[in-house]
Amino acid sequence: MSDNKQDASVGGAAFCACSLDPSRRALMAATAGVGAVAAAGVAVPFAASFMPSERAKAAGAPVEVDLSRLQPGEKMTVEWQGKPVWILRRTPEMLASLQSHAAGLVDPESKAAEQPAYVKGEARAIKPEYFVCVGICTHLGCSPSDKLKPGAEGGMDESWPGGFLCPCHGSRFDLAGRVFKSMPAPTNLVIPPHTYLSDTRLVIGEDTKGA
Ligand code: FES
Repeated sequence: MSDNKQDASVGGAAFCACSLDPSRRALMAATAGVGAVAAAGVAVPFAASFMPSERAKAAGAPVEVDLSRLQPGEKMTVEWQGKPVWILRRTPEMLASLQSHAAGLVDPESKAAEQPAYVKGEARAIKPEYFVCVGICTHLGCSPSDKLKPGAEGGMDESWPGGFLCPCHGSRFDLAGRVFKSMPAPTNLVIPPHTYLSDTRLVIGEDTKGA
């Protein structure tokens, strides 16, 4: 091509702008440039939409938790897959209380509950001391409040064994996340897959060692 000729490609066909006056050629060159930028602008987000963001990867990835500072009777919350996961370190008294009210529960053995197969018994835990569950009510998804202390102190009745109260419609759960009878929530709180790397290192979202 000679120096004073410009080619543009329209629809894949070669188009010669050599017969146009200089102002038309300048306009065409500018238009072609804008088109190229626009094409690049479209291509980048399209490609990006196929690549999971760091945030998305982090949201679905297992979460490692340090339990070393969690004292008996305390609860901590971590986020896993965008959900709150509770870890309650139960005292011997809390664990003993789980036996006191089985008759008042919908599913005391958690047969219908969503939980890993290796979480067994009334404690619903790999290590009974640590109760791990998704802190979302199984009725309509509110997050229950802590009512960990037994008795009337937390605004409950005298017979309250300790547990959790959903503020939305009043569902009550014990310290193993088991729902009491006559509550809106149909099932016990969900227990996520989890495993322990050591006595004080817990991984939420991974269960190869817990099975
Ligand atoms: S959402 Fe918890 S009782 Fe309705």
